[in-house]
Amino acid sequence: MLAQKYLFILLLGLGSGEKIPLDDFVYNDSDLNIAKWRLINSTINNNQTIYKLKITTLKWFDDSLSNNSIWKHDLYITVPSNLNPNNPLFYYIHSAEDDLTDLGYVSNISNKCRCITITIRQIPNQPIKFTDDPSGKGRVEDEIIAWTMGLYLTDGRLKFPNKTYENIPLLFPMTKAAKRGMDLAINFLKIKGYNFTEKFIPSGKSKRGWTTWLLTAIDTRVIASVPIVYDIINWNLIIHDQYMSLGGRYSFALEDYFNQNITESIDSLEFYDLRRLIDPLSKT
Ligand SMILES: *[C@@H]1O[C@H](CO)[C@@H](O)[C@H](O)[C@H]1NC(C)=O
Ligand SMILES: *[C@@H]1O[C@H](CO)[C@@H](O)[C@H](O)[C@H]1NC(C)=O
Ligand SMILES: *[C@@H]1O[C@H](CO)[C@@H](O)[C@H](O)[C@H]1NC(C)=O
Ligand SMILES: *[C@@H]1O[C@H](CO)[C@@H](O)[C@H](O)[C@H]1NC(C)=O
Ligand SMILES: *[C@@H]1O[C@H](CO)[C@@H](O)[C@H](O)[C@H]1NC(C)=O
Ligand SMILES: *[C@@H]1O[C@H](CO)[C@@H](O)[C@H](O)[C@H]1NC(C)=O
Ligand SMILES: *[C@@H]1O[C@H](CO)[C@@H](O)[C@H](O)[C@H]1NC(C)=O
Ligand SMILES: *[C@@H]1O[C@H](CO)[C@@H](O)[C@H](O)[C@H]1NC(C)=O
Repeated sequence: MLAQKYLFILLLGLGSGEKIPLDDFVYNDSDLNIAKWRLINSTINNNQTIYKLKITTLKWFDDSLSNNSIWKHDLYITVPSNLNPNNPLFYYIHSAEDDLTDLGYVSNISNKCRCITITIRQIPNQPIKFTDDPSGKGRVEDEIIAWTMGLYLTDGRLKFPNKTYENIPLLFPMTKAAKRGMDLAINFLKIKGYNFTEKFIPSGKSKRGWTTWLLTAIDTRVIASVPIVYDIINWNLIIHDQYMSLGGRYSFALEDYFNQNITESIDSLEFYDLRRLIDPLSKT
């Protein structure tokens, strides 16, 4: 019941045109000169042409924040021989892991839906080492998000003035890289002379499901989306709900946030401010 109510609110909210700070970051093209694709090879298999590309999507701060300011990815495109040019593209936002079994599913979707599919990997780029991180480790996945949230909630505001600190939460570059990956794929497909519709359906798992929600909120080319294993579209309410349901514990999935003292601060004013930036419900 509750979930339905929130879904309803969200769907009404999406595309409302109200600009949020994420829009400003994603649509800031001052680093557009580094957004590039390079074709590695192409093969024909499973009744489809498969292109492998290397792409560079964005610049996120510089060495003063981390050792990974320029984001690079693998990008795979499938064009099925039975393509229907009216069908939207399916956009799979993938992780950095070596396991590529998901590509088999995406390839089958391409034939069954008679649509072009695009898979972007390394969302987020990782491991990332942060300049001020006393552990000195290369962080991955939620460890990175939790670190950037902690930085936002504490001294990031002082170190990165003029509101640039708002761009620190990792969901900002994750969403922008996903949007740029789509732009680059479209550019490639046009140069190849394909006839297709510039509408797409993004999908991804976990923090890439989160990215899917955010991309849906800010990119009007998205006509539907399939976030997988990510339903925290109202952090404050859902984390509290989870804590109560688990008898006063957090889910294992929140371990990195717990370790970074994020869970304990979710009722603070600072966290309220952070939610405005990265909670899909803020685009309402
Ligand atoms: C775009 O980003 C650049 C680099 O971070 C920044 O200097 C510039 O002020 C931003 N532009 C706008 C309109 O926010
Ligand atoms: C295409 O490039 C990828 C990545 O370098 C490689 O794994 C694959 O074997 C190549 N395929 C062909 C047909 O050359
Ligand atoms: C490719 O398409 C042909 C003709 O539609 C079909 O007979 C064949 O089973 C398809 N092959 C694969 C691998 O899907
Ligand atoms: C893709 O489809 C083929 C043919 O239907 C099937 O054999 C294969 O298991 C499917 N792959 C995945 C990953 O579902
Ligand atoms: C950043 O540092 C981590 C940890 O040392 C390392 O694994 C990673 O490759 C580095 N990234 C870049 C782009 O140099
Ligand atoms: C912040 O903005 C003010 C007013 O636009 C400007 O004078 C100042 O140089 C900026 N500071 C930094 C560190 O960019
Ligand atoms: C592209 O596909 C649409 C829809 O099938 C069709 O109407 C149009 O003529 C095609 N354009 C070209 C250049 O083939
Ligand atoms: C979390 O809070 C505890 C208690 O205030 C503190 O000792 C610890 O250093 C904090 N951890 C991080 C990662 O900020």
